[in-house]
Amino acid sequence: MDRSVLFTPIKLKNITLPGRIVRAATEYFCASVDGHVAECEYTVYQSLGRQPLGMILTGNTCVSPEGRSNLWQNALWDDAYIPETRRIAEAAQACGVPAVMQLGHGGSRGEGNNGGLRVLTPDCMTIQDIKAVVHAFRDAALRAKQAGMRGVMLHCAHGFLLSQFFYPAYNHRTDRYGGSAENRFRIIREIMEAVKNACGDDYPLFIKINVTDVDKTDSYYTDLVTVLTTSSDLLDAVETSGWDAIENGVARRPYFIDVVRRLHNDVEVTLIEVGGFRDAHGMLSALQAGASAVSISRPLLREADFATRIRDTVDAVSKCKGCGFCLNPLDTTTMIRCPFAEK
Ligand SMILES: Cc1cc2nc3c(=O)[nH]c(=O)nc-3n(C[C@H](O)[C@H](O)[C@H](O)COP(=O)(O)O)c2cc1C
Repeated sequence: MDRSVLFTPIKLKNITLPGRIVRAATEYFCASVDGHVAECEYTVYQSLGRQPLGMILTGNTCVSPEGRSNLWQNALWDDAYIPETRRIAEAAQACGVPAVMQLGHGGSRGEGNNGGLRVLTPDCMTIQDIKAVVHAFRDAALRAKQAGMRGVMLHCAHGFLLSQFFYPAYNHRTDRYGGSAENRFRIIREIMEAVKNACGDDYPLFIKINVTDVDKTDSYYTDLVTVLTTSSDLLDAVETSGWDAIENGVARRPYFIDVVRRLHNDVEVTLIEVGGFRDAHGMLSALQAGASAVSISRPLLREADFATRIRDTVDAVSKCKGCGFCLNPLDTTTMIRCPFAEK
């Protein structure tokens, strides 16, 4: 496979991506305390929008106040956030790359981050709480659509609320939201249906989900296959992350490629693989394994034009060393996430 394939369009169900390299959802941790977007964040999206990317996923944007997972997270829990969401959409999409908004609820990560509001976990939530969360995702998705986002992605990975529902270790419910794989996935399924009802069947919908649990068990994998098989009708694509989503150090190979290869054989759903892509070779191996696209986060923090380098330079390798500084609060006012990034 030639690396030019990374820059050819691919049609998903309801959206055509102009290329196969996606900007993975990446928070900049610089919003105001009430979740308003910082001025400097628009510049990042303008810059990303000029790159030969297939899609730009926004950072994890919170759907309700108690679900804040850090102190500087962007919000979309009220119509007041629509104009700034529109500015992100316009900045990112100025040159034709579609922007898709990632929506999330932090669940237990609300502790210490949600201004003292009640912290939600799968075990403590009433049916009313579950309904309220479903409605919060639905309403935020509709706002994203009104703001011009080309689709939404539900953050069902990395230990946030929806991810906790799906992990048996975090979900001990004995009602219809706990127990079997279908039950533990039910809240996600209900959100997907609510989003489709509100935004229309043809509004692009993605989920990001862990394809591994901490012990990489077969039972987790089998559960995943079960729920993805029954939900593929609603999804444009699934972004495949995992328990160890952000490995430190220089990435040697894409982390989840073996599971993606298996999933490609076991489920009829479009896959976008994320984690550890640092050169065209890794990206092409993911496409060969069955992914339709790949997504990258830290390489674009290090070099905003990394996708351009991949396109224009043979053997281009990311300068990201996986030092982990981008995950620490650096200077939240100037939004420098990578201290080594070229200006
Ligand atoms: C600074 C930073 C912020 C991130 N923010 C998000 C986020 O908002 N939503 C999400 O799903 N993943 C987030 N991630 C995880 C990335 O999307 C990605 O899954 C992970 O970094 C592995 O990809 P990489 O090796 O290309 O960095 C973040 C990662 C970093 C380093």
